[in-house]
Amino acid sequence: MASLRVVVLFVAATVMFVAFVPPPAVAQLRTDYYASVCPNLENIVRNSVRQSMAQSQISAPAALRLFFHDCAVMGCDASIMITNSNGDDEWRNSDNQSLKREGFTTILSAKAAVDSDPQCRNKVSCADILALAARESVLQSGGPYYPVELGRYDGRASTRASVVLPRVNFNLDQLNAFFSGLGFNQTEMVALLGAHTLGAADCPFFQYRIGSDPTMDQGLASQLRGTCGSNPTNGFAFLDPSPVTFDNAFYRNLQGGRGLLGSDQVLYSDTRSRGAVDNYASNQGAFFADFVAAITKLGRVGVKTAANGEIRRDCRFPN
Ligand code: HEM
Ligand SMILES: *[C@@H]1O[C@H](CO)[C@@H](O)[C@H](O)[C@H]1NC(C)=O
Ligand SMILES: *[C@@H]1O[C@H](CO)[C@@H](O)[C@H](O)[C@H]1NC(C)=O
Repeated sequence: MASLRVVVLFVAATVMFVAFVPPPAVAQLRTDYYASVCPNLENIVRNSVRQSMAQSQISAPAALRLFFHDCAVMGCDASIMITNSNGDDEWRNSDNQSLKREGFTTILSAKAAVDSDPQCRNKVSCADILALAARESVLQSGGPYYPVELGRYDGRASTRASVVLPRVNFNLDQLNAFFSGLGFNQTEMVALLGAHTLGAADCPFFQYRIGSDPTMDQGLASQLRGTCGSNPTNGFAFLDPSPVTFDNAFYRNLQGGRGLLGSDQVLYSDTRSRGAVDNYASNQGAFFADFVAAITKLGRVGVKTAANGEIRRDCRFPN
């Protein structure tokens, strides 16, 4: 009897303990987060991104890349947007990642459009506008629609030293190590890197491979020799043959040894990830489904709450 009583007490205590544990300090993202405060949010961002894309073909690729660089460094908190007066901020980190101005203006224009609706003014975080603009960049480039989880708060800090990003000469183990730190397994990583179906890269990121990387197609090598020979610092090439269309051509490109970045081509060269590349190359539906899952997961990285964040009034400066 005594031991039964102990067990009952223990169970009761456990139930009470569990019942009184406060909710985790992890943000609960929801797709309808702004439904009552800013019901027209998605349309406002959609129209604004459409206008930015009409002005520049770099807009969508640059905005999508910005979302990755934001989420990978101190979480999806729009810290990448912060401009510090002393110049010590993420976007001006020492190994200049050459983020394009068009990405920033796409987000700032969307924020201005959101704030021009009196209901929405200063109610929507820059981090959420960035997440929505990334989705629009994918969708309006011909990629999949996906519901965007919302409810992120903006961070207050941004420093050069906090920037730790994967490098173009990473091998598969280094890539896996970096992305597993963000919660991705290898297949999810291969799907996420399909973002390189959009946009371009400057010669310094791939020139070192020309003539020295045997996995590079000879035709591509001679083409790139021409591109970068005449203009090594400002020359650029597209990451896949359809740089303004979000499709699975990126993976077919890798099958032909025509990946521009070493970190992309290695996904095919290394037999451990080749199967995923082959799958996405032959099945765009599978790529779209897995990309949606992966970018949604990216959007959950290090999300801030009211306890450690704010709704920034100007995306470039903490309040
Ligand atoms: C292994 C990880 C990655 C590496 C090493 C990498 C590296 C690069 C480099 C070097 C460029 C060219 C930048 C330039 O010259 O302007 C680039 C462009 C781009 N990256 Fe990545 N990236 C990685 C992952 C990602 C991810 C996860 C995303 C998004 C989900 C992404 C989206 C983009 C986009 C859209 C562009 C084109 C930007 C433009 O045309 O302005 N990247 N990336
Ligand atoms: C970084 O790159 C941008 C454009 O790609 C360029 O305008 C800027 O001067 C560069 N900054 C540094 C510190 O090299
Ligand atoms: C990786 O994650 C995906 C999606 O969550 C899952 O379906 C797959 O089984 C995982 N792969 C491995 C090798 O764990």
